[in-house]
Amino acid sequence: MKRLHEKEIATLVTKHIDTDVLSITLVDEGNLNYVYKVRTTSGNYYCKQALPKFRKTTESIEKLPLDINRLNHEIKAITLVGKLVKDNRFLLPKVIYFEKRNNVVILEDVARKMKTIKQKFEKGVIDPLDARLAGAFLGLQHSQSLKDTTQIRTKQENRQFYRQVIYFRTILSIEKSGLKEVLQKNFELPMGSSSVLINGDFSPKQIYCGGERLGICDFEFVCRGDFHYDLGFFIAHYELMMLIKPRLIKDAKRAIDEFIKAYSVKTKDASEIEINNKMLNYYIGTGILNRVYAVPRDKNISDKILKEVNQRAKELLA
Ligand SMILES: Nc1ncnc2c1ncn2[C@@H]1O[C@H](COP(=O)(O)OP(=O)(O)O)[C@@H](O)[C@H]1O
Ligand SMILES: [Mg+2]
Repeated sequence: MKRLHEKEIATLVTKHIDTDVLSITLVDEGNLNYVYKVRTTSGNYYCKQALPKFRKTTESIEKLPLDINRLNHEIKAITLVGKLVKDNRFLLPKVIYFEKRNNVVILEDVARKMKTIKQKFEKGVIDPLDARLAGAFLGLQHSQSLKDTTQIRTKQENRQFYRQVIYFRTILSIEKSGLKEVLQKNFELPMGSSSVLINGDFSPKQIYCGGERLGICDFEFVCRGDFHYDLGFFIAHYELMMLIKPRLIKDAKRAIDEFIKAYSVKTKDASEIEINNKMLNYYIGTGILNRVYAVPRDKNISDKILKEVNQRAKELLA
């Protein structure tokens, strides 16, 4: 298996879609795969290639499960989430073609001229409506998966996968931060009581928003696990924004509120889903540490902000 370059990507696309390619660019957003945005005369497509090594790696990222079948799992996950969340406000990427030989998939565009929540953050905009929709989406996915317990991986594989992801986002992130006071508490890996179908990577860069609609991409980390993890990890990005751009504190707080409210509306009949604030704070706290210590750090995080991140994490993990 070898990395496909622009020309080969263009050939692949025109072989499977009756269109002409206008341009191809590598999307330098995630860390794990080679994702190309392909502009064509019939709209945009995304090609995602998973190689035996991650595209960008750090000592921490190396602890993530490196699974060569990750695109197969992602395709299964897109189908399953699509079945669980039947709501046409939420757009998931349709799989157009999967080429096993080069481990590359052609996906439909879920952006449809919308901006990701992350792109809006970068413009200094936090819209509580986006967070509300994200909460409603997650609430539907989580609660519906209590009835339909279809698995993406085998039970044993799921356990192993989930453990590694949670370890990376929590314990490892605390360790990397050097927060001795927190470390001394000897946190155990929280495996969560209630197991639902979680997204596993529910973050602003994967969510496109346009008014009353969301486009959601990257389902590689979908697995069964503790619902608090998705909630905490998503909220962590708003917590970080409050430290990076204090003038957005009010909007960020409202967004978090709307997110939780919309989530709770969608899960109110699922008796197993009751938010435990300690668990939620654990994942928010470890989520902010993960973002600044375990993955390549955003250029907006100065050393001063880094100190504030540690302080905030200490409060959340107290
Ligand atoms: N189907 C899609 N529609 C729109 N944007 C996409 C799509 N797939 C990927 N992207 C964009 O490319 C980025 C990287 O793709 P992603 O699937 O998240 O790969 P990685 O595993 O490397 O994070 C996403 O964050 C998003 O900005
Ligand atoms: Mg991604």
